[in-house]
Amino acid sequence: VGHIDDVQELRKAMPTTVPERFVRDITERPTLAPTPSSPNDIPVVDFFKLIKGNKEEFHGEIVQLATACEKWGFFQVINHEIELSLFESIEKVAKGFFMLPLEEKQKYPMAPGTIQGYGQAFVFSEDQKLDWCNMFALGVEPQYIRNPKLWPTKPAKFSETVDAYSREVRKLCNNLLKYIAMSLGLREDVFADMFGVAVQAIRMNYYPPCSRPDLVLGLSPHSDGSALTVLQQGKGSSVGLQILKDNIWVPVKPIPNALVINVGDTIEVLTNGKYKSVEHRAVTHMEKDRLSIVTFYAPSYELELGPMPELVDENNPCKYRRYNHGEYSTHYVTNKLQGKKTLDFAR
Ligand code: SIN
Ligand code: FE2
Repeated sequence: VGHIDDVQELRKAMPTTVPERFVRDITERPTLAPTPSSPNDIPVVDFFKLIKGNKEEFHGEIVQLATACEKWGFFQVINHEIELSLFESIEKVAKGFFMLPLEEKQKYPMAPGTIQGYGQAFVFSEDQKLDWCNMFALGVEPQYIRNPKLWPTKPAKFSETVDAYSREVRKLCNNLLKYIAMSLGLREDVFADMFGVAVQAIRMNYYPPCSRPDLVLGLSPHSDGSALTVLQQGKGSSVGLQILKDNIWVPVKPIPNALVINVGDTIEVLTNGKYKSVEHRAVTHMEKDRLSIVTFYAPSYELELGPMPELVDENNPCKYRRYNHGEYSTHYVTNKLQGKKTLDFAR
């Protein structure tokens, strides 16, 4: 990735120019007109009611969770028990990193065919359009996926904050997977037992303002290769995340201090398509920048998986083949983001 592809530098040098490499084909350009709000808002799940609610509240939230996973693939979690101070500090170090001089950030370059380090991910050819986004991604757990050389020394407290935050998000994912299992009528530990030591990665996305948000995408449409994804949107950020619902791109309006959760490809395959890994993308804003902090939670690379027998019957024939999750992950990171295409691997 050369200087010229760095979106922050581009924006600084030429605030009103959008180079050709970022200009999308007409068919790919975003719709920025506001879509009607309710009933098009993504579901909200109250975590407090799941862990401490009475029977009725618990049941109501489980139903809400089931609906969210089946019809939307996305939901926002409120009362998730991650401390506000941690929320603020992860945002601060993420923003702090992106605000470093380019030379400093380029000490941690993203190697081709990986998604760890700083740069543009998922770029494989000269004529591929680029996203209006800078990324910094790190493997977090288990230890062997970490590349210590990529953990930055600046800004202060970066690494310890990522670790503290990641531990909390991991707990949340473990809990959510239990409730997701229960919402399917399955044993609560079914995913934990299957997944082994879960793989966790974090990706920070920084979207500078763009003079022509109608021509570019912040992040190309894709579904996530994880089991669950947890997304924190920066305070004061523009609304940027959009999900494809019934063929319409629906914006996800941030609820302050809530987390956006989405079902990834692993859960779609395991549930034989009952729970959906929904296509999503990010758009940019003319004046406002946007920061998102994304955690990917996935099974151990060793897992061999396919649709769970409980979710296959005459009415729901098996939609996916069995495959190895490590091979799927490699497939995912070595292909460009193009909607739900990566899941063709499992067909
Ligand atoms: C993502 O899909 O990884 C992030 C999208 C966003 O920035 O909201
Ligand atoms: Fe995503």
